[in-house]
Amino acid sequence: MTKRDILVTSALPNANGSIHLGHLLEHIQTDIWVRFQRMSGQNCIYVCADDTHGTAIMLKAEERNTTPEALIAEIKAEHEADFGDFHISHDNYYSTHSSENEAFSGLIYNKLKQAGQIKTKSVAQLYDPEREIFLADRFIVGTCPKCKADDQYGDNCEACGATYDAMDLINPQSKLSGAEPVEKASTHFFFALSNFTDFLTEWTRSGALQTQVANKLAEWLDAGLKDWDISRDAPYFGIEIPGETGKYFYVWLDAPIGYMASFKNYCDQQGNINFDDYWKSDSQHEVHHFIGKDIINFHALFWPAMLKSADYRTPTKVHAHGFITVNGQKMSKSRGTFINARAYLDHLNPEYLRYYYASKLTASIDDIDINLDDFVQKVNSDLVGKVVNIASRCAGFIKKNYDATLSAEPKSPLIQEFISQSGAIAKLYEEGEYSKLIREVMAMADKANQYIAECEPWVKIKQPGNEIDVHNVCSDGINMYRILIGYLKPVIPSLAEKSEQFLNVPSMHWGDIKKPLVNHKINKFKPIITRAETDKVDAMVAASTETAPTKPAEKVVKADEQTVEGISPQIEFDDFAKVDLRVVTIINAESVEGADKLLRLTLDLGTETRNVFAGIKSKYSPEQLIGKQTVMVANLAPRKMRFGISEGMVLAAGPGGSDIYLLEPHTGAAAGMKVC
Ligand code: MSP
Ligand code: ZN
Repeated sequence: MTKRDILVTSALPNANGSIHLGHLLEHIQTDIWVRFQRMSGQNCIYVCADDTHGTAIMLKAEERNTTPEALIAEIKAEHEADFGDFHISHDNYYSTHSSENEAFSGLIYNKLKQAGQIKTKSVAQLYDPEREIFLADRFIVGTCPKCKADDQYGDNCEACGATYDAMDLINPQSKLSGAEPVEKASTHFFFALSNFTDFLTEWTRSGALQTQVANKLAEWLDAGLKDWDISRDAPYFGIEIPGETGKYFYVWLDAPIGYMASFKNYCDQQGNINFDDYWKSDSQHEVHHFIGKDIINFHALFWPAMLKSADYRTPTKVHAHGFITVNGQKMSKSRGTFINARAYLDHLNPEYLRYYYASKLTASIDDIDINLDDFVQKVNSDLVGKVVNIASRCAGFIKKNYDATLSAEPKSPLIQEFISQSGAIAKLYEEGEYSKLIREVMAMADKANQYIAECEPWVKIKQPGNEIDVHNVCSDGINMYRILIGYLKPVIPSLAEKSEQFLNVPSMHWGDIKKPLVNHKINKFKPIITRAETDKVDAMVAASTETAPTKPAEKVVKADEQTVEGISPQIEFDDFAKVDLRVVTIINAESVEGADKLLRLTLDLGTETRNVFAGIKSKYSPEQLIGKQTVMVANLAPRKMRFGISEGMVLAAGPGGSDIYLLEPHTGAAAGMKVC
């Protein structure tokens, strides 16, 4: 068999936030595929990078009083540590803010230009005259022209669902300065995507895409492709367009080129890998992109068209996945289900998640629901109860009675049966059908456990004359364990490594699975995995919960109706009397690093001080609050949050965001006084 040369990528995470469960789904999916390829003897290189450009990152740096360069460096270090701790085996993790990316972006742009595929057009856009910057829709707020709801974004109304042009908002305001935006025209550069309609119609059906994805794209292709705006005006954090002044590449032009840049950087580090072998137009090497369904158009339309036009090869395959939901709903900060990589790692073993994701992943782009109870249950019943159980049931007997040495020959026909599945399991890895593969492996684990249970070595060993029998059963059990661990190794690499130590074998390759261990000495079995605990999951959710200080009555806004406040169900006086409300003085207030909406308040109750987190940063600066009095719930159970423990809650009113008002007593009441 000749070796395949495969370059693999995961989508480049944005450099303006932390890695969360959604990113992890993708990187775990990719990493399993990559580890399987490497284990099967292929040359497989896995690169990724942070996606660093764009207005959002520029503004975030400004907000934090730092430079975009410093911000992206900090975030990159965080991302790399997170991925490393989840055993994601990137060969290179780079940045789109690099000399390689600048060079390739310029080069590709010039090739497109020479090919006559770059056009210019004047585009009118809203502009902030104070900050002197063009405003994307999400940076403009105003009153909905349809239902008159305030504080709506420039593209659609969250209250009535209307979509409109930002210029149609009533009293539009720039979110950056509050100034009224003005319309301003400027020249934009366009990539003539529409010229690639025939090419893309064919390419999308060439086998590079899942059928589900190709069908979706056929709808867009039928509707007609529009040319693609690839430029943004200064100020912008990005790559300047060669030969122009004050014009930058739109972040989505240089982001996929970032795959090439990261790979080039890797080639230069390694010295013996040739960039062109992978990227020249007639390359026989493979390029695989793993992405989420939200960015299919960039990877399956714009990217192949750009590559084609610039005379590079197109991707061998784009593997798209669905979005995760947690407990049936979109990830949510208030429910504690917007879980960051670090919050997970603080409480749980990364291989639980790798295994759980594998058990859910298929080759489809349907969304995937993560149920936290199911997560605990599945990890415990499969990994602990079925797989590792096989080794822990057999190892002791071998060690104690047979000088830690396995028998001379496998006896159970199950061994051959399991080995014969190797091709089918490999095919499921290749196709990304991990969920099916996990089911197959667990079916084998069930058979192995049943075999051991029926043979009852723990009973037989007590009866004389069964020595050979028990030796065979337990040796077979250990060999079955080894096969299953081999099959699961791409999913649970660290558990596999610990198992290899126990089995006293070198790092297993796919081909080794076929060769049972005979007359082989094993090491002492040490517990290699502990049960997943519900407490830990709860602690992780608590730590991920960002609480607003008050849960404002739900604002229900319907089109053409006035705002009405939904009143919660009635409570009894006794319920109310349980709440201990106190007047407190805010003696300190400060921002919380990594939390956009939270302030950390130090409250003086007269008799003691408390640390309370309040989601009121969009309205109040720390300076405004210090010295003020407010009202707190003093007997609320402390709550562990990601940033520390919150020992109570302050009261505020309003629908939230910047529309929130901290309650302030105007009585001159002393701190600690009970509110009645
Ligand atoms: N920077 C772009 C990608 C550029 S690739 C040249 C981007 N970044 S992202 O950080 O928003 O998303 C990175 C990847 O994570 C995307 O593939 C996206 O689909 C995936 N996910 C982000 N949230 C997700 C879920 N909730 N569920 C599953 N995957 C999701 O897009
Ligand atoms: Zn509206």
